[in-house]
Amino acid sequence: MDKVLTRLVGVEGSRTLEVARRHGAYKSLEAAVKLDPAEIVEKVKASGLRGRGGAGFPTGVKMSFMPKEPTPERPNYLICNADESEPGTFKDRVIIEEDPHLLIEGCLISSFAMRCSCAFIYIRGEYTLGARVLEQAVAEAKAAGLVGKNIFASGWDCDVVVHRGAGAYICGEETALMDSLEGGRGNPRLKPPFPAQAGLYGCPTTINNVETLANLPAIIERGPEWFAGIGRNERNTGPKLYCVSGHVKRPGVYELPISTPLMEIIDEHCGGLLREGSRLKAVIPGGSSVPVLRAEECQDLPMDYDAVAERGSMLGSAAVMVMDHTTDMVKVMARLSHFYAHESCGQCTPCREGTPWLEKIFQRILRGEGRPEDLDLLESVASHMQGTTICPLADAAAMPARSFISKFRDEFEHYIQHGRSAVAAG
Ligand SMILES: Cc1cc2nc3c(=O)[nH]c(=O)nc-3n(C[C@H](O)[C@H](O)[C@H](O)COP(=O)(O)O)c2cc1C
Ligand code: SF4
Repeated sequence: MDKVLTRLVGVEGSRTLEVARRHGAYKSLEAAVKLDPAEIVEKVKASGLRGRGGAGFPTGVKMSFMPKEPTPERPNYLICNADESEPGTFKDRVIIEEDPHLLIEGCLISSFAMRCSCAFIYIRGEYTLGARVLEQAVAEAKAAGLVGKNIFASGWDCDVVVHRGAGAYICGEETALMDSLEGGRGNPRLKPPFPAQAGLYGCPTTINNVETLANLPAIIERGPEWFAGIGRNERNTGPKLYCVSGHVKRPGVYELPISTPLMEIIDEHCGGLLREGSRLKAVIPGGSSVPVLRAEECQDLPMDYDAVAERGSMLGSAAVMVMDHTTDMVKVMARLSHFYAHESCGQCTPCREGTPWLEKIFQRILRGEGRPEDLDLLESVASHMQGTTICPLADAAAMPARSFISKFRDEFEHYIQHGRSAVAAG
């Protein structure tokens, strides 16, 4: 498969409009504005594209929820979610920094299809370079008439606004992001109403991930059949970015056909395990919020939404974290639990109280002060967090905790009984 999302990576001057246009940027937009907006939505539906931000919701279906006749008082908005705060995830950054015009074009195509007159790109505060690159690219596109009034003489106006977050993980959750964009504290909102009914400033809003939107120019250019032809079946289609970190020789972002087997990604694309003679122990397949897989569960696993779900985990953000046999799973879990306790927004009791409980108990096990009843206590706390809160952050903290304990229970028990790591003890 030739590269679609990363085709300009390594091309000199790829951030500039001139180089991007030489490689075909904005041609799909020019073609798209000649179509009926509903036709674009149908193409996206037919492509089978599913959201690349984590949940995998069908993108075309989401577009179709938006009102068809927005009014000046209640305009439709698109938000591009460039918060990218899930631990292990660094794929959107590559698109933003290496090919910002691809993202802007994707935002404009989606905006046209949903009759939006403004698209916001909400970028995480820590991505200072990415924010500068995007601001520069938007300014260039505006100066060239590609953003603004009467785009490609279509009579349609659309602005693009880059907004920087302030470094909170929760602001990647779509409704917290909207609160933050409005100038408030990033607190997730209860649903319904869903964003397509009442989102940003109370107006109909669709939020999509960077990678999701960056696929749209290719769907318009090459057609939905081409896109749907990539992948294992019609529910898992298109090119996919996998960000691989941990104990591999060549960590990085890999653009591959969705459904590429996990062990092919590790052994072939990433050059295998980092250290000679080491053995694979575990993989977190989709960012820190998803259940961990044991080495044997990684065999014959196509990396797509349905196959990973059938294995009891999630494709999530496709952040693949590889751990070899030297990894202390108690240490990993204690570290992850610290992250979630720090990032809980505090609105819901099970999450506000549960995430620091998990952290406290994991940390005391790690210090060698674990109690025999701790594993049951952890299970009880985690089970009361799942499905009981406003947003899925509590689930994101509970799911990995439960999976680490159930799959590596002996390591936790060793810590509790001996006060030290089973791994260090050999
Ligand atoms: C705690 C939390 C953090 C999230 N962080 C991100 C993020 O950084 N980037 C992202 O695209 N989606 C993130 N999401 C998912 C978004 O809420 C939303 O589902 C997504 O942006 C939709 O885009 P998609 O349909 O293109 O996948 C997060 C969700 C939760 C619960
Ligand atoms: S689950 Fe946690 S992060 Fe989400 S709204 Fe409730 S307290 Fe906030």
